[in-house]
Amino acid sequence: MSSLSEATRRAGRRLALVPTMGFLHAGHLSLMAEARSRADVVVVSIFVNPSQFGPAEDLSRYPRDLAGDLAKCAAAGVDAVFHPAPEEMYPAGHQTFVEVTELSRGLCGDRRPGHFRGVATVVTQLFALARPHVAVFGEKDYQQLLAVRRLSRDLHLGVEVVGMPIVREADGLAMSSRNAYLAPQERVRALALSRGLEGAQDAFQRGVTDGHTLRERVRAELRRSELREDYVELVDAETLHALECADRPARLLVAAFVGSTRLIDNAPLG
Ligand code: PAJ
Repeated sequence: MSSLSEATRRAGRRLALVPTMGFLHAGHLSLMAEARSRADVVVVSIFVNPSQFGPAEDLSRYPRDLAGDLAKCAAAGVDAVFHPAPEEMYPAGHQTFVEVTELSRGLCGDRRPGHFRGVATVVTQLFALARPHVAVFGEKDYQQLLAVRRLSRDLHLGVEVVGMPIVREADGLAMSSRNAYLAPQERVRALALSRGLEGAQDAFQRGVTDGHTLRERVRAELRRSELREDYVELVDAETLHALECADRPARLLVAAFVGSTRLIDNAPLG
């Protein structure tokens, strides 16, 4: 990975990186297309990063399909796939971690302790190895996008971090590798997240800015489909600070359990 990067840079060509954990879907492909339009060489990393999973989370059963992923990358015009082994990224004696302090607080940061430390660490490692000019991330993981953008600035990594809109299934469900866990009936109930966000966006368009009312639009859908709420929050789109009123660029974020599967989704307001 390092020598490909060095050769690319020496030739005066631009390199774009799309970090993923594999089991690729149309959301990942949209990031690759954006990367393709912004650089000469596009690299996709596929690495199910152990350090971002909690002890009770789904690391061992996270879905994998390397052959399928490689075919999708080839069809998307990706130049190289970086697929390191866990022992290469975390050899014996590894003890250095990266923490984005404020943006990792609240939302998924509170519900998944250590998660963003793992994400920030592996993304820093990937940026150090691939030394991309630009890296493309999805707004699906909105807190992650802001944290990674911050870390690139704070550590002077010089990587431009580009965010892309959420790609959805035809019925609105945000695409996610974890959707593969859903049984057919759960797949139907999972629509409550996107339906709730859409309802809140409609209300916002009609002039509703009160945080409680907007959050309640989402909560009502979760209750109706008997999903267990993890959080529903209205936050400032830049700082992620909680808002009582959507009177500036804001983001409404939801995390909920469908059975044992935890799903997240979010939408911009204003
Ligand atoms: P993963 O969940 O595989 O997602 C890889 C990238 O695809 C992330 O930037 C994510 O936001 C984006 N993505 C996922 N679903 C999307 C959708 N429906 N629409 C648009 N973009 C979508 O996020 C990770 O992996 C990891 O945390 C990683 C950054 C690779 C670090 O290990």
